[in-house]
Amino acid sequence: WIQVSSVQMPRFEAVDGSGVHSISEQLASRCGYTISTFKMDGLTTFRASYYSCFTHKQDDSVFTFRFNVMVSDGGGAWISRAVSASCSGLSWTHREIVCEENYMETVDMLLWSFMMFRLVLVQAQRTATSVWQLMFLQSGGHVSSMSVSEAQTMGYSLTTTAHRVVLRSQYKQQHAKVLMVDGIPVEVIRVSVFFKNKLTVVIMDVTMAYSGSFDDTWLLWDVPWIMTPLVEEDARFESQSVRVGVEGVLLDEPTSTTRGFSLVRGGGLVQIGVPFGAEGGYRKSLVVNNVYKELYVIFLLYEHVFSLLYEDGSSITTRHRMVRVLDTPLLCRPPFKTISDDDAFSIYLGNIPADVILEEVWINRKQLMTSESINPVAHVNGSRAYKLRLPFDDAIVHLRYLGGGVVQFSIDVNFTLTIVPQRDSYHHHTVVTAHVVDAFPPQISAQCSDGGITFSVVRPHQTKSLWEVGVDQEPLTSQLAAQRGYHLHNDTHRTSLDVPVLSIGYTYEDINLSHFYGIFKLLLRDSKTLEVQTSTSKRCLFRTEDMMVCSADGTMTVVTTPTSTWPTVGPDRISLLDPTCRPKQADGSRVLFEFKVNSCGTRTMTVDEKVLLLNRLTVRCFYPLSGVNRLSVDRLFRAEAPGFGSIKVFESLEGRSPTY
Ligand SMILES: *[C@@H]1O[C@H](CO)[C@@H](O)[C@H](O)[C@H]1NC(C)=O
Ligand SMILES: *[C@@H]1O[C@H](CO)[C@@H](O)[C@H](O)[C@H]1NC(C)=O
Ligand SMILES: *[C@@H]1O[C@H](CO)[C@@H](O)[C@H](O)[C@H]1NC(C)=O
Ligand SMILES: *[C@@H]1O[C@H](CO)[C@@H](O)[C@H](O)[C@H]1NC(C)=O
Repeated sequence: WIQVSSVQMPRFEAVDGSGVHSISEQLASRCGYTISTFKMDGLTTFRASYYSCFTHKQDDSVFTFRFNVMVSDGGGAWISRAVSASCSGLSWTHREIVCEENYMETVDMLLWSFMMFRLVLVQAQRTATSVWQLMFLQSGGHVSSMSVSEAQTMGYSLTTTAHRVVLRSQYKQQHAKVLMVDGIPVEVIRVSVFFKNKLTVVIMDVTMAYSGSFDDTWLLWDVPWIMTPLVEEDARFESQSVRVGVEGVLLDEPTSTTRGFSLVRGGGLVQIGVPFGAEGGYRKSLVVNNVYKELYVIFLLYEHVFSLLYEDGSSITTRHRMVRVLDTPLLCRPPFKTISDDDAFSIYLGNIPADVILEEVWINRKQLMTSESINPVAHVNGSRAYKLRLPFDDAIVHLRYLGGGVVQFSIDVNFTLTIVPQRDSYHHHTVVTAHVVDAFPPQISAQCSDGGITFSVVRPHQTKSLWEVGVDQEPLTSQLAAQRGYHLHNDTHRTSLDVPVLSIGYTYEDINLSHFYGIFKLLLRDSKTLEVQTSTSKRCLFRTEDMMVCSADGTMTVVTTPTSTWPTVGPDRISLLDPTCRPKQADGSRVLFEFKVNSCGTRTMTVDEKVLLLNRLTVRCFYPLSGVNRLSVDRLFRAEAPGFGSIKVFESLEGRSPTY
């Protein structure tokens, strides 16, 4: 055996005393060489029989092989390498039959052929006219005789040595016939060889059994237990051993058991079974129209050693070997399996052929960058699986509240699996959804207190990340609370929020000098879609103090105590810069103005001209510019949210005389 690893098909030459002989396909089958058609992993296997044409045979016991193996260098030149081997110390049975990929060969010891003499002597005497004579026994008792040279022109090869005679034939030759032996088609050639001078007769039978099938799990090869053409009727058959091997090497029983091979006798047959994917074979996968296909192929050897025992006590032992490539058809390999558990998607993508790598995973159109959530699993049968685990609360998972406490989680998963080395890609796409019941949104309740409104948000257990509590556009976080002066207290199931009146987020209604209503609203949003599910709004009555409200419709409401000015001015005498803008309400000490931001002339409120120069009172409303619409175009004011205001009293011109 020579194995050559090369991209291009290597070439072989046999070397003997007379020179170099290039081994063509034709010459190979005539001369006992095989360039195997079974090529896996870039290996080409070359086999030579001991009795191949250019082998040096010394006394039928030392065999010397010499070859040149030529491998392409990829640039049109061939690199030649000499390979030689010398084999000796082999033990031979009387009859060695080999059914190779491209020929059948039988090596018979002359000793035992003498014993066969009696069977065909009569016929031989009648027809033997030359030194060598071959008689092919054909169906219906028909005999076709020819000389050695005639046989050679027909593609047969007959050679003799001191002790052996070797016949070789290609398959499907003219004189071969296919017999059914226990239901199995068997190709048979029966030849008698006559040695005129010694009256030696050799009968040679070679047989090859054709059968092979696949039943979804097992590759099966049925071989007749007794190859009847090889066994005469008057002899007793005794089996010595039956074994199988892989790629020319016989396996001992423990090894073949470990690999799961089975060898069962029954109904006149030996049934050889090889489980899909067994060690020693090859799995190959490919992608056809985005469907995985896989095949398994194994190069098997079958060997049966048996004896024929004759009445006179003599016996003849035969070693019958056959090689066969067994392969499965292309099998569809749909991967898949999905399990969802309570709080995570668990996808098990199984039955992935071994020559496939997981290249990428896209979930909801985002590439999963880390392999943390994916674990490869090896199956006993050599295939693989990938386990993907994604908690429902992973940011990549889509969720939708279907109402009634039911939340739907969904992922759209696209696995890219690539067969190496040929890099055929297969995409496995699936949408997985899971429902969680009792996923009710948090319960929000509110109470009025002296200084503000107190909210209580009670969260049901497992739905912590489903919902977002928000104040307008903003999610309610500790930072937001700190910025705005809310008091947030958080424990495992409940969040309580105190919102002091006049802090950001309130809206106001019905403001008068004694009371007003403050309204504060919490929104409950779907934390993924930000779609508002519910809102809880609380309206509480508060006592009016000095305050300033800048509402979203552009109304400024100011309650202030101008008595602190000097000289004091009666509240009823106060107006805005536009003197027609009078207080909406006034009592002994305080005034309430309510006006549109774009009315009443000016942003500055004036009390009296004299006082104005001494004390200046500034009322300002701030609105985020981005939230203000059409302020100056048509003198309508609209803002998305209330603004916030400030009132500042500046003591100015201190120490200077007032000027008029
Ligand atoms: C390999 O084993 C896995 C897990 O037992 C099974 O799902 C799969 O169908 C098997 N594949 C083949 C080709 O037998
Ligand atoms: C899966 O991903 C591959 C490669 O990105 C793309 O070609 C294929 O269309 C995707 N399949 C689906 C169903 O989205
Ligand atoms: C309150 O606590 C819960 C769980 O302890 C947490 O999920 C949530 O984010 C916290 N909320 C705030 C506003 O800090
Ligand atoms: C002030 O407003 C409160 C609440 O709307 C109302 O009950 C009260 O009567 C009002 N007082 C005056 C003087 O208008």
